[in-house]
Amino acid sequence: MSHNSYDVQQIRRDFPILEQTVHGFPLVYLDNAASNHKPLAVMDAMRHVMLHDYANVHRGVHTLSQRASEQFEQARHKVRNFIHAAHDHEIIFVRGATEGINLVAQTFGRSNISPGDRILISAMEHHANIVPWQMLRDQTGAELSIIPMAEDGSLLLDQLDALLDDRVKLVAVTHMSNALGTLNPVADIIRKAHARGIPVLLDGAQSTPHMAVDVQALDCDFFVFSGHKLYGPTGIGVLYGKTVHLENMPPWQGGGDMIRHVTFEKTTYSGLPWKFEAGTPAIIEAIGLGAAIDYLETLGMEAIARHEHELLHYATEKMLAIPGLRMVGTAEGKGGILSFTLEGIHPHDIGTILDHYGVAVRAGHHCAMPVMDFYGIPATARASLGLYNTHQDIDRLVDSIQQLIKVFH
Ligand code: ALA
Repeated sequence: MSHNSYDVQQIRRDFPILEQTVHGFPLVYLDNAASNHKPLAVMDAMRHVMLHDYANVHRGVHTLSQRASEQFEQARHKVRNFIHAAHDHEIIFVRGATEGINLVAQTFGRSNISPGDRILISAMEHHANIVPWQMLRDQTGAELSIIPMAEDGSLLLDQLDALLDDRVKLVAVTHMSNALGTLNPVADIIRKAHARGIPVLLDGAQSTPHMAVDVQALDCDFFVFSGHKLYGPTGIGVLYGKTVHLENMPPWQGGGDMIRHVTFEKTTYSGLPWKFEAGTPAIIEAIGLGAAIDYLETLGMEAIARHEHELLHYATEKMLAIPGLRMVGTAEGKGGILSFTLEGIHPHDIGTILDHYGVAVRAGHHCAMPVMDFYGIPATARASLGLYNTHQDIDRLVDSIQQLIKVFH
């Protein structure tokens, strides 16, 4: 779909949840970075499989099991195409980005990280890309080092060369910051890490809803994202890993579906991707995620990115004109996240009062407490854009902020 044919009003009809009032005002939903809404196509696909084709996958010779298995594996294929992976078996279904990172920490990490080794993350990571590495650090005697950032929320990459010493065994960074919107120059980071033979994991939870991703072009070793931030269901997410890593990694959870043969003495494991998918997977949710990807591809990731970029530009200009508003995260080329504070008003009050005007934003530390510490603030209010937001949504946000300032002063 071309720029001119991106009809946001038409698109909004695919999201009936948006057509409601909250506290008497038409809903303005600007909490897309926390989770976004599901188009009818996703609900239809999930309902369809439950109405017609549902059964457990990979286990039955009967027709329904075969149909469900086929649709489940088709969903994997859609994910592969969506992020341009080389093989379907490089797509592991997990519960979300968080589980994907924990899986890598406990399999790749446990077998490759030794006492004295280092795991390098950045100053702007979500807790999901901090805590699993701290747990691994404590289990292995490794160390965690941090790529620092500047006041605008961009990484200080001139320090990367010095940080990438011989002790670093893995780099794990966010593609796009959930608290600041910063889009990190991940291709450069990967190139530099690879020049020293160090693999790189990217947290794509925030980037995947907003831009086309090509894991082969990026050459990342691991990439994780969540379905529920991609207009798909909760409870499903993806770990992409290069074949060479996935093959060498031990399984994570043990159980059904991940085995080839079990005796009381010994178990042999299934091949990829099932080696990492113990137990009954989130079948309906995976199919829903496949439908979300179909939906996004119909709109076109480039068109979505252009639309959101235009809105971000519009919102930034209008918000910066509000006296006492401080934008937290102003890195050049950032994505559609507007984290802000207002002089003399606690971010939680901002969130609560905006809700009274029907405007949904998130207030808090955004699961990125070290980012808040860096700026010396407890929290921010955060408006985050999605493919269905409009200029009117931004006008309503700005008007509501102006109203709430009047209430407080
Ligand atoms: N990580 C999600 C957010 O940024 C929940 O809000």
